[in-house]
Amino acid sequence: MTAADKNVFEGEHPRLKTGTGSVVASRPAAESTWLVEFTAPALAEAVEPGHFVMLRLPELYSPLLGRPFAVYRADRASGRVQVIYLVVGNMTERLSQIAPGTPLEWWGPLGRGWAPIEEGDRPAARRIYMAAGGIGYTPFYLLAEKYAALEPKPELHLLYGARTKSRVPNLDDFRALGVDVKVATDDGSLGAKGTVGDLLKAERLEGAKDALVAACGPRPMLFAVFETAKSLGNVPCWTSLETPMSCGMGLCFGCVVEYMGKDGKFDYRRTCVDGPVFDAYRLKWD
Ligand SMILES: Cc1cc2nc3c(=O)[nH]c(=O)nc-3n(C[C@H](O)[C@H](O)[C@H](O)COP(=O)(O)OP(=O)(O)OC[C@H]3O[C@@H](n4cnc5c(N)ncnc54)[C@H](O)[C@@H]3O)c2cc1C
Ligand code: FES
Repeated sequence: MTAADKNVFEGEHPRLKTGTGSVVASRPAAESTWLVEFTAPALAEAVEPGHFVMLRLPELYSPLLGRPFAVYRADRASGRVQVIYLVVGNMTERLSQIAPGTPLEWWGPLGRGWAPIEEGDRPAARRIYMAAGGIGYTPFYLLAEKYAALEPKPELHLLYGARTKSRVPNLDDFRALGVDVKVATDDGSLGAKGTVGDLLKAERLEGAKDALVAACGPRPMLFAVFETAKSLGNVPCWTSLETPMSCGMGLCFGCVVEYMGKDGKFDYRRTCVDGPVFDAYRLKWD
């Protein structure tokens, strides 16, 4: 481990590494959506599906704080990591303008990832429905990659929704893993006309005991997916939240959500260390 890779919060975050990588590639992935690939061997080695990483441009003071992003792909052999992001503000705008060779500061992997949907090292259900809206498909590639390698392999479905065709990314990475991909757009310009919730309804999962929904996307979409899963006979539903964060490592309490404890009472949980994946049936949605 080099000085740059040292774990600064060993006690609370046994896996945490920090480093400054170098941008290898930066290219558009869909309208207002970019992919950045950078060197981070220690991160590529440690990351598990659903983990996120904090990124910061060390040559800039604005934004001063890092921003959280799901790790989309990681290649241990080359030590490279990919993040895909939607341009929404200061950091993502600046990130979309960087050239190969630019330094990129990172710390991670962070969060518990998709571990809550697993029993042992396998998913807790035979059929996995990954429900993604907008940029919310990013935490699913590593999950699909892990499950596609299992024997016996679970059934893997990606139900993807976006506003319009130009916002739909290339989902061939998922198809190449054998994932059944279905797309819906609000305006019907690609795939079915409708929402991710509509795609889920069409799967006819009423009363299914062997299915599980894992969702990521904007909060209204997550809520709609959860309501659909509930209406199908309480199909298990887990959501990966994109709550805005400051520190990303449990220090500032800026990312709390209300979550039902085992005693049935609501309490606060930090999305960065207790999540970002939560049981949708225990989240407070209003
Ligand atoms: C665990 C986790 C994983 C994430 N993974 C991804 C990913 O893979 N790809 C991706 O594009 N984004 C992801 N996000 C969201 C990403 O962190 C924000 O889009 C990013 O911080 C915006 O930074 P900015 O400086 O560009 O925008 P800012 O200038 O900080 O904000 C611009 C506008 O966007 C709003 N905003 C900022 N953050 C969020 C948010 N989290 N949710 C809703 N509105 C927000 C602000 O209120 C403001 O209106 C993730 C967030 C979390 C918590
Ligand atoms: S972002 Fe600081 S505690 Fe979660």
